[in-house]
Amino acid sequence: MHPFPLRPLTFTLLTFLLLLLTTHLTSTTASSKLQISPYSSPEHLLDLSTITRPHALLALALQDMDPTTPAYALTPYKAAFNWPHVMSNLSARAAAEDFHFPKTKFYIIVFRSQIEPGTNRHELGAMDMVAHREAVESGWLLKYWFGVPDELGYNLATCVWRDIKDARRGGRGKGHQAAMKAVRGLYKKWEVERLALVVGEGVKEWDIVKWEEAAKEEEVNGGGEL
Ligand SMILES: *[C@@H]1O[C@H](CO)[C@@H](O)[C@H](O)[C@H]1NC(C)=O
Repeated sequence: MHPFPLRPLTFTLLTFLLLLLTTHLTSTTASSKLQISPYSSPEHLLDLSTITRPHALLALALQDMDPTTPAYALTPYKAAFNWPHVMSNLSARAAAEDFHFPKTKFYIIVFRSQIEPGTNRHELGAMDMVAHREAVESGWLLKYWFGVPDELGYNLATCVWRDIKDARRGGRGKGHQAAMKAVRGLYKKWEVERLALVVGEGVKEWDIVKWEEAAKEEEVNGGGEL
């Protein structure tokens, strides 16, 4: 037998199989990486396979997080976003995979600011991106959302973390420090709120409270599994 006519076919088949395999591998990897912020490049994605189920499910449900009003910058946090919708999505996601959601407390940082109209937002944006990448690298930022300054320069940015330890690690990076320094000069005023999103067992209830209050409650309850 002359092997020559077989060669192109063998080659084609092999290429096809390799392509299939590569596509499969790529899509498997891609599906565990979640875009949790306005930034979509690979180093900004959250790798769902590195976190526990409750954290992954909340990160997925938070994909649906949206402001409820254009005045979000000046609205109390719980009312400013569609939390009831996010929580019902979380509950449905847990039910869909028959996962019993344990009582979990997440850490939220809210950054409210006002800039002088006409401030160089480009510079702020670039620095912000570096700070965000560090936050993701430091681990387990579940959501990052920010708006645009309104006509008076008011804006809001917010992060949801697994817990306060991650947030502290995320704030230590050089990019974050530089961004905070710039903040002092560029913003007319700014304030940081520290909140807790407390999700009850089985996602039967939830609330957003001041971080200090959530920490106190934990002490009273003897610091149970959260
Ligand atoms: C949660 O929201 C996403 C995005 O809107 C939707 O595709 C998904 O079906 C929802 N999940 C459940 C279980 O309701």
